[in-house]
Amino acid sequence: MLHQRNVKKVGRNDPCPCGSGMKYKKCCMNKEGNHFRPVDVKSQYAQKYRIRLKEEKDVEGIRKAGRLVVDTLDLVEERIRPGMKTDEINTIVHEYTLKHGAIPAPLNYRGYPKSVCVSLNEVICHGIPGDRVVEDGDIVNVDVTSILNGYYADASKTYFVGKPGVEAKKIVEVARNSLRIGLRQVKPGNTVGDIGWAIQLYAEGEGCSVVREFVGHGVGLDFHEPPQVPHYGRKGEGVPLVPGMVFTVEPMINLGKKDLYILDDEWTAVTEDGSLSAQFEQTVLVTQTGFESLTPFEI
Ligand code: MF3
Ligand code: CO
Ligand code: CO
Repeated sequence: MLHQRNVKKVGRNDPCPCGSGMKYKKCCMNKEGNHFRPVDVKSQYAQKYRIRLKEEKDVEGIRKAGRLVVDTLDLVEERIRPGMKTDEINTIVHEYTLKHGAIPAPLNYRGYPKSVCVSLNEVICHGIPGDRVVEDGDIVNVDVTSILNGYYADASKTYFVGKPGVEAKKIVEVARNSLRIGLRQVKPGNTVGDIGWAIQLYAEGEGCSVVREFVGHGVGLDFHEPPQVPHYGRKGEGVPLVPGMVFTVEPMINLGKKDLYILDDEWTAVTEDGSLSAQFEQTVLVTQTGFESLTPFEI
């Protein structure tokens, strides 16, 4: 008998392996002669989209890395206080990561000089830790990616420092809900486009805007893998979701306009209009019925 390792049977309601985005039963299942054999979804996603579907052992590795990322975020949450330099957050993340046998993925990634991204107020993402001091009323996004035994997990949260104002509360709530609403779309049969569609509909409905220049991404065996996961777009567009996909959803939401510019350091992205921006990110696995967060925290 043929060795059937990695050969998954396609269910009636699964996305059709031909890549049409339709359900199998509505597509090739009923075609005359059933023109293809039970398909190895894993090699099909590798060839067609360059997406590496994860095996159980990979998922376990990413889950462990994800646990460490969440613990790191919790430690930062405990320690963050007004008067602190963003570089102190870098030290906390760097030391905690090494202490647990992991590597901070940002350090030296494409020339990035630090171990974590710390993005305050009007900074959208990729803020480089340094001498900037966090003050009472600030919002601070801390984005942690750790490599543990070769596996990557990526997550971020936006914290209040001291007592938040009305605008800070609003943008953090909308960013948090955006991630939750995006994740609700993560299930087999939906597409990558459904995630962005749901987020955009919600966030714009709240009078906020969705950043276009940065997207979620496949993750796990590398820092940034295919597919790209935009936080805006049209329902039904893009790659059909199948079990074994691991990617981030990480909407960046601005209180004002969506436009941004990059500072001279070539990393820090800030809102063009100076409005507040917030973000939450998780790494998730597509399962048979929905998703599992590999960086689980309450959203
Ligand atoms: N963690 C970021 C993301 O969510 C990427 C940071 S790249 C760095 O994709 F080099 F700035 F660290
Ligand atoms: Co991240
Ligand atoms: Co990410």
